[in-house]
Amino acid sequence: MPTPHQIKSMKSHQKIAMLTAYDFPMARLMDDIVDIILIGDSLGMVVLGYENTTKVTMEDIARATSAVARGAKNVLIVGDMPLGAYDNEKTALKNANLLLKAGAHAVKIENKPEIAEFLVKNDIDVMGHIGLTPQTITNFKVQGKDEEAAKRLIELAKACDKAGCFSLVLECIPLGLAKKITEEISIPTIGIGAGIYCDGQVLVTHDILGLFSAFKPKFVKRYADIGSIMKKAFEQYTKEVREGKFPSDEFSFH
Ligand code: KIV
Repeated sequence: MPTPHQIKSMKSHQKIAMLTAYDFPMARLMDDIVDIILIGDSLGMVVLGYENTTKVTMEDIARATSAVARGAKNVLIVGDMPLGAYDNEKTALKNANLLLKAGAHAVKIENKPEIAEFLVKNDIDVMGHIGLTPQTITNFKVQGKDEEAAKRLIELAKACDKAGCFSLVLECIPLGLAKKITEEISIPTIGIGAGIYCDGQVLVTHDILGLFSAFKPKFVKRYADIGSIMKKAFEQYTKEVREGKFPSDEFSFH
Protein backbone atom coordinates (compact mmCIF):
# COMPACT_ATOMS: atom_id res chain seq x y z
CA MET A 1 0.00 0.00 0.00
CA PRO A 2 1.45 3.41 -0.89
CA THR A 3 1.75 5.67 2.16
CA PRO A 4 0.86 9.39 2.02
CA HIS A 5 4.61 10.04 2.09
CA GLN A 6 5.12 7.80 -0.98
CA ILE A 7 2.22 9.51 -2.78
CA LYS A 8 3.89 12.85 -2.05
CA SER A 9 7.16 11.64 -3.50
CA MET A 10 5.45 10.61 -6.76
CA LYS A 11 5.19 14.30 -7.70
CA SER A 12 6.63 15.10 -11.11
CA HIS A 13 7.87 11.60 -11.92
CA GLN A 14 4.87 9.27 -11.69
CA LYS A 15 1.25 10.21 -12.32
CA ILE A 16 -1.17 9.35 -9.52
CA ALA A 17 -4.46 7.57 -10.33
CA MET A 18 -7.32 8.00 -7.88
CA LEU A 19 -10.96 6.85 -8.13
CA THR A 20 -13.89 6.90 -5.76
CA ALA A 21 -15.45 3.79 -4.21
CA TYR A 22 -18.17 3.44 -1.63
CA ASP A 23 -18.53 -0.31 -1.14
CA PHE A 24 -16.73 -3.65 -0.84
CA PRO A 25 -17.14 -5.07 -4.39
CA MET A 26 -16.00 -1.87 -6.11
CA ALA A 27 -13.01 -1.60 -3.76
CA ARG A 28 -11.99 -5.21 -4.48
CA LEU A 29 -12.11 -4.59 -8.21
CA MET A 30 -9.89 -1.50 -7.88
CA ASP A 31 -7.38 -2.92 -5.41
CA ASP A 32 -3.88 -3.26 -6.88
CA ILE A 33 -4.88 -1.07 -9.83
CA VAL A 34 -5.30 2.54 -8.70
CA ASP A 35 -2.99 4.32 -6.23
CA ILE A 36 -5.69 5.93 -4.09
CA ILE A 37 -9.34 5.16 -3.36
CA LEU A 38 -11.39 8.10 -2.15
CA ILE A 39 -14.60 7.51 -0.24
CA GLY A 40 -15.94 10.80 -1.57
CA ASP A 41 -18.99 12.63 -0.35
CA SER A 42 -20.10 12.29 -3.98
CA LEU A 43 -21.59 9.14 -2.45
CA GLY A 44 -24.52 11.39 -1.51
CA MET A 45 -25.36 11.95 -5.16
CA VAL A 46 -24.29 8.78 -6.96
CA VAL A 47 -25.33 6.24 -4.31
CA LEU A 48 -27.84 7.89 -1.98
CA GLY A 49 -29.68 9.93 -4.61
CA TYR A 50 -29.39 13.38 -2.99
CA GLU A 51 -29.28 16.47 -5.23
CA ASN A 52 -25.89 17.50 -3.85
CA THR A 53 -23.33 16.44 -1.25
CA THR A 54 -24.48 18.62 1.64
CA LYS A 55 -26.70 16.03 3.36
CA VAL A 56 -23.96 13.39 3.62
CA THR A 57 -23.18 12.46 7.23
CA MET A 58 -20.12 11.16 9.03
CA GLU A 59 -22.02 7.91 9.51
CA ASP A 60 -22.50 7.57 5.71
CA ILE A 61 -18.79 8.07 5.04
CA ALA A 62 -17.62 5.92 7.97
CA ARG A 63 -19.80 2.95 6.97
CA ALA A 64 -18.66 3.19 3.33
CA THR A 65 -15.03 3.56 4.46
CA SER A 66 -15.13 0.36 6.49
CA ALA A 67 -16.64 -1.54 3.53
CA VAL A 68 -13.94 -0.18 1.20
CA ALA A 69 -11.20 -1.03 3.72
CA ARG A 70 -12.43 -4.65 3.82
CA GLY A 71 -12.16 -4.83 0.02
CA ALA A 72 -8.94 -2.91 -0.74
CA LYS A 73 -5.65 -3.86 0.89
CA ASN A 74 -3.05 -2.41 -1.47
CA VAL A 75 -4.15 1.17 -2.06
CA LEU A 76 -4.16 4.32 0.01
CA ILE A 77 -7.67 4.86 1.39
CA VAL A 78 -8.82 8.45 1.87
CA GLY A 79 -12.06 9.28 3.68
CA ASP A 80 -13.82 12.50 2.70
CA MET A 81 -14.93 14.64 5.65
CA PRO A 82 -18.52 15.73 4.94
CA LEU A 83 -19.96 19.22 5.43
CA GLY A 84 -20.08 20.13 9.14
CA ALA A 85 -17.50 17.50 10.12
CA TYR A 86 -14.58 19.95 10.37
CA ASP A 87 -16.15 23.24 11.42
CA ASN A 88 -13.62 23.64 14.24
CA GLU A 89 -10.44 21.90 15.43
CA LYS A 90 -12.09 19.73 18.08
CA THR A 91 -14.84 18.45 15.76
CA ALA A 92 -12.35 17.91 12.94
CA LEU A 93 -10.01 15.85 15.11
CA LYS A 94 -12.83 13.72 16.51
CA ASN A 95 -14.29 13.01 13.05
CA ALA A 96 -10.94 12.42 11.35
CA ASN A 97 -10.14 9.83 14.00
CA LEU A 98 -13.52 8.16 13.38
CA LEU A 99 -12.64 7.76 9.68
CA LEU A 100 -9.18 6.40 10.54
CA LYS A 101 -10.83 3.93 12.91
CA ALA A 102 -13.19 2.89 10.09
CA GLY A 103 -10.17 2.02 7.92
CA ALA A 104 -9.06 5.23 6.17
CA HIS A 105 -5.34 6.04 6.06
CA ALA A 106 -5.95 9.75 5.50
CA VAL A 107 -8.79 12.26 5.28
CA LYS A 108 -9.75 14.90 2.71
CA ILE A 109 -11.13 18.33 3.54
CA GLU A 110 -12.30 21.18 1.30
CA ASN A 111 -10.45 24.52 1.70
CA LYS A 112 -9.63 25.35 5.39
CA PRO A 113 -5.80 25.08 5.49
CA GLU A 114 -5.89 26.07 9.19
CA ILE A 115 -7.89 22.92 10.03
CA ALA A 116 -5.58 20.84 7.82
CA GLU A 117 -2.58 22.17 9.75
CA PHE A 118 -4.17 21.28 13.09
CA LEU A 119 -4.95 17.73 11.92
CA VAL A 120 -1.43 17.26 10.52
CA LYS A 121 0.01 18.42 13.87
CA ASN A 122 -2.12 15.68 15.43
CA ASP A 123 -0.56 13.02 13.17
CA ILE A 124 -3.41 12.82 10.66
CA ASP A 125 -2.56 12.77 6.96
CA VAL A 126 -4.66 15.28 5.05
CA MET A 127 -5.50 15.66 1.37
CA GLY A 128 -6.66 19.20 0.55
CA HIS A 129 -9.35 20.08 -1.99
CA ILE A 130 -9.79 23.50 -3.65
CA GLY A 131 -11.49 24.99 -6.71
CA LEU A 132 -15.05 23.83 -7.21
CA THR A 133 -15.66 22.54 -3.70
CA PRO A 134 -19.20 21.09 -3.82
CA GLN A 135 -19.90 21.42 -0.06
CA THR A 136 -19.91 25.23 -0.31
CA ILE A 137 -20.14 26.10 -4.03
CA THR A 138 -23.48 25.18 -5.51
CA ASN A 139 -23.18 26.73 -9.00
CA PHE A 140 -21.16 24.11 -10.84
CA LYS A 141 -18.94 26.48 -12.86
CA VAL A 142 -15.25 26.55 -13.72
CA GLN A 143 -13.44 28.36 -10.87
CA GLY A 144 -10.49 30.77 -10.95
CA LYS A 145 -11.28 32.22 -14.37
CA ASP A 146 -10.50 35.87 -13.62
CA GLU A 147 -7.17 37.15 -12.34
CA GLU A 148 -8.40 37.88 -8.82
CA ALA A 149 -10.01 34.43 -8.38
CA ALA A 150 -6.93 32.71 -9.85
CA LYS A 151 -4.69 34.59 -7.39
CA ARG A 152 -6.90 33.51 -4.48
CA LEU A 153 -6.67 29.85 -5.58
CA ILE A 154 -2.87 30.03 -5.91
CA GLU A 155 -2.66 31.47 -2.38
CA LEU A 156 -5.01 28.81 -1.03
CA ALA A 157 -2.99 26.04 -2.71
CA LYS A 158 0.20 27.41 -1.13
CA ALA A 159 -1.50 27.57 2.27
CA CYS A 160 -2.57 23.89 1.96
CA ASP A 161 1.01 22.97 1.05
CA LYS A 162 2.37 24.97 4.03
CA ALA A 163 -0.26 23.36 6.30
CA GLY A 164 1.33 19.98 5.61
CA CYS A 165 -1.26 18.40 3.28
CA PHE A 166 0.30 15.45 1.41
CA SER A 167 -1.63 16.17 -1.80
CA LEU A 168 -4.21 18.58 -3.15
CA VAL A 169 -7.32 18.01 -5.29
CA LEU A 170 -7.91 20.76 -7.87
CA GLU A 171 -11.49 20.65 -9.08
CA CYS A 172 -12.82 22.36 -12.18
CA ILE A 173 -10.21 25.02 -12.87
CA PRO A 174 -8.59 26.08 -16.17
CA LEU A 175 -5.63 23.89 -17.16
CA GLY A 176 -3.21 26.85 -17.30
CA LEU A 177 -4.00 27.76 -13.69
CA ALA A 178 -3.71 24.10 -12.60
CA LYS A 179 -0.28 23.99 -14.28
CA LYS A 180 0.86 27.11 -12.43
CA ILE A 181 -0.36 25.74 -9.08
CA THR A 182 1.27 22.36 -9.81
CA GLU A 183 4.59 24.09 -10.52
CA GLU A 184 4.43 26.37 -7.50
CA ILE A 185 3.64 23.90 -4.72
CA SER A 186 5.70 21.02 -3.32
CA ILE A 187 2.83 18.50 -3.01
CA PRO A 188 1.14 16.57 -5.84
CA THR A 189 -1.97 18.06 -7.38
CA ILE A 190 -4.76 15.65 -8.29
CA GLY A 191 -7.03 17.13 -10.91
CA ILE A 192 -10.69 16.65 -11.69
CA GLY A 193 -11.64 18.91 -14.57
CA ALA A 194 -8.26 20.62 -14.15
CA GLY A 195 -6.40 19.37 -17.22
CA ILE A 196 -3.35 17.32 -18.09
CA TYR A 197 -0.64 19.17 -16.12
CA CYS A 198 -1.74 17.95 -12.68
CA ASP A 199 0.39 15.30 -10.95
CA GLY A 200 -2.57 12.92 -10.86
CA GLN A 201 -6.22 12.58 -11.75
CA VAL A 202 -9.42 11.59 -9.96
CA LEU A 203 -12.91 10.89 -11.30
CA VAL A 204 -16.10 9.62 -9.72
CA THR A 205 -16.30 5.91 -10.55
CA HIS A 206 -20.04 5.93 -11.15
CA ASP A 207 -19.48 8.63 -13.79
CA ILE A 208 -16.82 6.72 -15.72
CA LEU A 209 -18.87 3.51 -15.65
CA GLY A 210 -22.16 5.02 -16.79
CA LEU A 211 -23.83 4.27 -13.45
CA PHE A 212 -24.89 7.87 -12.83
CA SER A 213 -26.79 9.55 -15.60
CA ALA A 214 -28.46 12.59 -13.98
CA PHE A 215 -25.79 14.75 -15.65
CA LYS A 216 -22.31 14.33 -17.15
CA PRO A 217 -19.77 17.12 -16.63
CA LYS A 218 -17.51 17.96 -19.62
CA PHE A 219 -14.45 16.56 -17.79
CA VAL A 220 -15.92 13.08 -17.35
CA LYS A 221 -14.70 10.41 -19.77
CA ARG A 222 -17.01 7.42 -19.87
CA TYR A 223 -14.78 4.33 -19.97
CA ALA A 224 -17.63 1.81 -19.95
CA ASP A 225 -21.40 1.71 -20.00
CA ILE A 226 -22.03 -0.74 -17.18
CA GLY A 227 -25.40 0.90 -16.53
CA SER A 228 -26.88 -0.42 -19.77
CA ILE A 229 -25.34 -3.88 -19.24
CA MET A 230 -27.01 -4.02 -15.80
CA LYS A 231 -30.33 -2.86 -17.24
CA LYS A 232 -30.23 -5.60 -19.88
CA ALA A 233 -29.60 -8.21 -17.17
CA PHE A 234 -32.53 -6.91 -15.07
CA GLU A 235 -34.81 -7.04 -18.13
CA GLN A 236 -33.72 -10.56 -19.07
CA TYR A 237 -34.21 -11.83 -15.50
CA THR A 238 -37.68 -10.25 -15.24
CA LYS A 239 -38.69 -11.71 -18.62
CA GLU A 240 -37.52 -15.22 -17.65
CA VAL A 241 -39.32 -15.06 -14.28
CA ARG A 242 -42.55 -13.86 -15.91
CA GLU A 243 -42.33 -16.54 -18.62
CA GLY A 244 -41.66 -19.27 -16.04
CA LYS A 245 -38.23 -19.99 -17.57
CA PHE A 246 -36.20 -19.20 -14.46
CA PRO A 247 -35.25 -21.18 -12.44
CA SER A 248 -34.71 -24.04 -14.88
CA ASP A 249 -33.60 -27.48 -13.66
CA GLU A 250 -29.94 -26.36 -13.63
CA PHE A 251 -30.71 -23.91 -10.83
CA SER A 252 -32.95 -26.23 -8.78
CA PHE A 253 -32.33 -28.74 -5.96
CA HIS A 254 -33.62 -32.32 -6.14
O1 KIV B 1 -16.61 13.52 -3.32
C1 KIV B 1 -15.83 13.26 -4.25
O2 KIV B 1 -15.97 12.26 -4.97
C2 KIV B 1 -14.73 14.18 -4.46
C3 KIV B 1 -13.93 14.03 -5.71
C4 KIV B 1 -14.72 14.44 -6.86
C5 KIV B 1 -12.64 14.71 -5.63
O3 KIV B 1 -14.50 15.05 -3.66
